[in-house]
Amino acid sequence: MTADASSSDSETVDPAAMLARFEQRFGHAGQLLRAPGRVNLIGEHTDYNDGLVLPMNTGLYTYLALAPRRDRKLHAYAASLDQLAMIDLDGPCPDAGWMRYVWGAAHMTEAQGLALPGFDLLIEGNLPLGGGLSSSASLLSTLLLGFTRTLKQSFSPVSIAQLAQLTENEVIGVQAGIMDPFVINCCPRAHALLLDCRDLSHESYPWPNHWPLLLVDSGVRHELADGAYNQRRQQCEAAAQALGADSLRAMDKTQLESLSGTLLGRRAQHVHAENQRVSHAVHCLQNGDIFGLGQLLDASHASLRDDFEVSCAAVDKLVSLAQDTPGVLGARMVGGGFGGCVLMLLAPDRASAAEQHVLAELERQQGAAPWHHRVVPADPAGTCPR
Ligand code: GLA
Repeated sequence: MTADASSSDSETVDPAAMLARFEQRFGHAGQLLRAPGRVNLIGEHTDYNDGLVLPMNTGLYTYLALAPRRDRKLHAYAASLDQLAMIDLDGPCPDAGWMRYVWGAAHMTEAQGLALPGFDLLIEGNLPLGGGLSSSASLLSTLLLGFTRTLKQSFSPVSIAQLAQLTENEVIGVQAGIMDPFVINCCPRAHALLLDCRDLSHESYPWPNHWPLLLVDSGVRHELADGAYNQRRQQCEAAAQALGADSLRAMDKTQLESLSGTLLGRRAQHVHAENQRVSHAVHCLQNGDIFGLGQLLDASHASLRDDFEVSCAAVDKLVSLAQDTPGVLGARMVGGGFGGCVLMLLAPDRASAAEQHVLAELERQQGAAPWHHRVVPADPAGTCPR
C-alpha cells in the first residue's frame, strides 16, 4: 500500500539552474552541496540530557554553491533574503543572523588546524527558517562540508556533526544538543535514526513509506538564542544536580518523585517520560503499530506543553485541530519549540481527506492555507545529485 500523494508548497531548487546562477553572480564555476532539515519523530529536549531521539531527514534542503577565492574574504549571497555579505575571515564575527553562521563555520574549520582561502558562496533552499526543522544545523552542515571538501579534507559525517554543534554552541550561543547535525549528516535515506545521545550509538530503522507524515507551519517564529532554550537546558542541569545524577538520563523513578510538585520536577518528568516514549516508538516502528505511534506523538505534545512548557498558543491550537480531525492519528510540536511546525501522523487510507480538512480549516481561520509539506525521509548531507 502506498500513501496517497500530496503536493507540497515547498519550492524545489534545480541544481543546474543554481550552479548557473552562481556562475552568473560570481563569474566562475562552483561546486554544489546540500544538507537536509530534519524532522524529529519523537524525543524532544532529550538530546542534551544524554537521552534518546528518533529523528529522520526531510526532503527539504539548504543548498550551497561555493568556490574558493584568492583572498581571505567570504562573499556570501543568501537568495531567500536577497542579502549579500562581505565577510573578512580575519575580522570579527558579524552581528547579523545568517552571516554569523558563515563566519562561524569558517572559523571552526580553521580551528581544526586548516588554513582556509576566501570563498564565494551562494545559499538557497526550501527549508522554512525557524520552523523547528533545524534550518541552523542544516546551514552549518553544508558550510562545514563545503569548506572541508574544498581543502580535500575528508571529515567523517560524525565529525561534521560535532563541528556543527560546536559552532552553534560557541559562536551562535545556543546550547543545542547533537541531534540535529547528527541526523542531518548520518541518517541513511528512507530511515529514521535512533540515537542515544549519551554515547552516540545509533541504529537506523526503515520508515514505512505508507505511513504519511504531514508538517504544517504554525506561522509563529522562534529565536532559540533568545534564552528560553538555554534556560530549559540549565533547568535540566539543575534538576540533575538536585538529584545527585550526572544527567537526567541517569535518574530513576524514585529520584524523580523527590522533585514532585516543583518546576524542576516537571522538567525532569518530561525528559524521563520522553525517553521512554522514544523506546516505545521504536517498538511501534518494528511492529507496524501506526496507532501506537500516533498516541505517543499526542502524549509527547502534552508533556512538552504542560511539563516542559515549550509550546505556545498557536501551536497548541493547531495540534488540537489536528487531533480532532478524523484520519489524524497523532500530532505534536517539533524541534526546540515556541512556534514552528506541527507534525501529524495520518492514517494511510484517510491521509488526503485529513490533510485537506486541516488545511481548509486553517484557510478559513487565517485567510490563507499555511505552508505544509509531506515528509518522505530523504538523503543526508552531501554532494548534490545533478
Ligand atoms: C533544537 C536543538 C536540538 C534539540 C531540539 C529539541 O532543535 O537544536 O538539539 O534539543 O531543539 O529536541
